[in-house]
Amino acid sequence: MNKLVGLTRNFSSSSSLNAIKTVTVVGGGLMGSGIAQVSAQAGQNVTLVDLSPDILQKSQKSIENNLRRVAKKIHKDDASKIDNYVKESFDRIKVSTKVEDGLNSDLIIEAIVEKLDIKQQLFNKLDELAPQHTILATNTSSISINEIGTGIKRKDRFGGLHFFNPVPVMRLLEVIKGDHISEETYQAMMEWGKSVGKTCITCKDTPGFVVNRLLGPYSAEALRMYERGDATKEDIDIGMKLGAGYPMGPLELADYTGLDTNKFVLQVLYEKTKDPVFKPIPLLDKMVAEGKLGIKSGEGFYTYKK
Ligand code: 3HC
Repeated sequence: MNKLVGLTRNFSSSSSLNAIKTVTVVGGGLMGSGIAQVSAQAGQNVTLVDLSPDILQKSQKSIENNLRRVAKKIHKDDASKIDNYVKESFDRIKVSTKVEDGLNSDLIIEAIVEKLDIKQQLFNKLDELAPQHTILATNTSSISINEIGTGIKRKDRFGGLHFFNPVPVMRLLEVIKGDHISEETYQAMMEWGKSVGKTCITCKDTPGFVVNRLLGPYSAEALRMYERGDATKEDIDIGMKLGAGYPMGPLELADYTGLDTNKFVLQVLYEKTKDPVFKPIPLLDKMVAEGKLGIKSGEGFYTYKK
């Protein structure tokens, strides 16, 4: 089945009174630009906010390229339809360096740096300035939703929307229920997730939610296996691709996700669960300290052309 099939769907106004039609994404990195892209593809008006004009410029370039990949799949060799698809979707995304320009949306999704205090500051500001009906959501991979939302008043209109990399391709969206989310907000988030072509699953506010809680031990054990010299990196990766049907091996995936992100997720899981499987891994610490972060730095377990 075409992995991108969900992306061709148009956003249909749902029966819910709270259907989300306008979205602001705060953070123009890989995840933020992917979220902006799938929202625009689904016909929604998007504001993409980042403090850095350079990052916004890079995001726009990557969104345009990725929209073209999607358009080519939908419209095959029809060049004018491809161009139209790219232009129409691309034009739905406005960019800004000021969060104030994105306040008037039905949904604001945060996809900034994984630092609790910085996320809290942002949400406190959004809570104060955004209209009452606006739903606030975080794309955090592993920080507690309840902790991020400690200072906000609209706790009933706040939750987690956790996307996977690459956002335009991965079909899953984890909808995370904080302790105070209302049923109405939860349903609006689930409907919105479907409208952008994702299959939604629900998880309580637990460390790593569903996917990272399960990927964490798998990734950690693969790193330790390589660290001990049990097998070569190539054989570990081939093993899981051909023996377990994974699209990427665990070390390739670590390079793809970013070794710093990997380290961060394991660290949070260890702090929250004290499960020794998540204990720091000296090899991972060393590689991150040396700036070997995977694809984004040009070197991780493998080397990449920049
Ligand atoms: N935008 C649009 N389309 C894209 C794309 C993008 N950014 N990236 C890839 N594609 C499309 C390609 O055009 C291609 O389409 P086709 O199959 O219809 O021709 C398809 O996706 C596959 O791409 P490629 O042929 O370039 O490469 P691969 O076949 O090797 O697939 C992959 C690449 C989709 C990344 C695949 O290897 C994969 O699924 N890997 C696992 C990724 C994964 O596990 N992600 C989750 C990480 S954990 C996470 O994100 C959580 C966070 O909290 C850390």
